[in-house]
Amino acid sequence: MIISYLKVIEGTSFSSSSQTEVTYQAQQLICLDDNGYIARTIEPSDSDYVSVKQIAQANDTLTTLRPNQYVLPGFIDLHIHAPQWPNAGLALDRPLNEWLNTYTFPLEAKYQDLDFAKLVYNDLVQELLANGTTTALYFGTVHNAANLELAKACIRHGQRGFVGKVAMDNPAQTPDYYQDASAQVAVDQTEQFIQQLGELNQTTDLKQTPVITPRFVPSCTPASLQGLGDLARKYDLPVQSHCSESDWENGYALEHYQMRDADVLDHYGLLTDKAVMAHGTQLNDHDYALFAKQGVAVAHCPISNVYFGNAVLPVKRVLAHHVKTGLGTDISGGYSPSLYQNIRQAVMSSRLLQDGVDNQLPADQRGVNDSAISVKTAFYLATLGGAQSLHLQTGKIAAGYLADLQVVSLKNVFQADDADNIFEKLMYQTSQADIEQVYVQGEQVK
Ligand code: GUN
Ligand code: FE
Repeated sequence: MIISYLKVIEGTSFSSSSQTEVTYQAQQLICLDDNGYIARTIEPSDSDYVSVKQIAQANDTLTTLRPNQYVLPGFIDLHIHAPQWPNAGLALDRPLNEWLNTYTFPLEAKYQDLDFAKLVYNDLVQELLANGTTTALYFGTVHNAANLELAKACIRHGQRGFVGKVAMDNPAQTPDYYQDASAQVAVDQTEQFIQQLGELNQTTDLKQTPVITPRFVPSCTPASLQGLGDLARKYDLPVQSHCSESDWENGYALEHYQMRDADVLDHYGLLTDKAVMAHGTQLNDHDYALFAKQGVAVAHCPISNVYFGNAVLPVKRVLAHHVKTGLGTDISGGYSPSLYQNIRQAVMSSRLLQDGVDNQLPADQRGVNDSAISVKTAFYLATLGGAQSLHLQTGKIAAGYLADLQVVSLKNVFQADDADNIFEKLMYQTSQADIEQVYVQGEQVK
């Protein structure tokens, strides 16, 4: 008996098979089931290729791609501040602490205005989907009404969102116009948001996940960190924060807790195997070992790190320590909502790390050996690496994975290219206009 599928896409695909390898499938049928998963992939050599295709054609559920179109898994943005979208591209020359106080906190404070929140969040979610980002791990603001609008925008436009109510109650490191009034308030409102999102999820098949979100160690008091760690355990939910992002942040923990930033978060129960820590440019081997032991993931944000990181994250070293790693835009610490741009910057930064940058030094003393990553590894970070960090069965084109896909057209085709060349060109040349279709959980959203 031949089964008919909800949707069948016939075309060519690329998908990560490991941290360094990409699988090319010249022609296949990607068959989607009613629940938004890839039920099967069928190759021309399989006996029922023709019959499945004919049935899909007859049912009008077949999409046949053009020769220069390619199917890729949708991207996962593992670290993005939704409220900062209006500031993308601003003030990147300021140090982190000044940037937060002068540009970022005043903007985030505006989200007590729900009309402003709706306007920005609907725009951002559509922008990310148009760029091929099918899942995003969001920082919201302290305001739950606005955070709910972000989750509603994800549902409305069809994106899988992980949304955090930001907790920031340390009066010494937050402005009085934008902070949680106390540790108790920060924790209670985090718990309230978990419940509110639970209710919202009753109305949709595309579930949005609440995330425990201490902004970073400096913004929080020991009491809120403790309370949030307790919530992470009670609800078994993801945690997100920033960890050792910059010299300043790294130094803050040492000065105020006489502990490393990672150890402070661990002390309060925040480094779980559902935790995603942004940046980590200043993490050391001790921290990597801790992350690997606890199953903590790093969200690598290579564009943002150029401005605020004070160093290049040695991604290859992080992966070698068996730390889960994905890719984030860190809007607006990073200027671009595109993970393609971040894939490119991840490769470029890693090459600068390997070669070194000070031309006054002899070549053999300039850089850090064995640091360069390939564009295939950067693609892995944007897909499977992010999926594993969020415990999602997505990021790969294979049976049993969620149908989160993007269809991209290759523009500069003047000669026959082999699969590796096509893949590289797609990674380096794709712009938003070339991303022609996007699917989340089987639903076409672009
Ligand atoms: N550390 C604390 N808050 C922030 C933020 O909004 N952006 C970045 N890049 N780092 C932070
Ligand atoms: Fe950030």
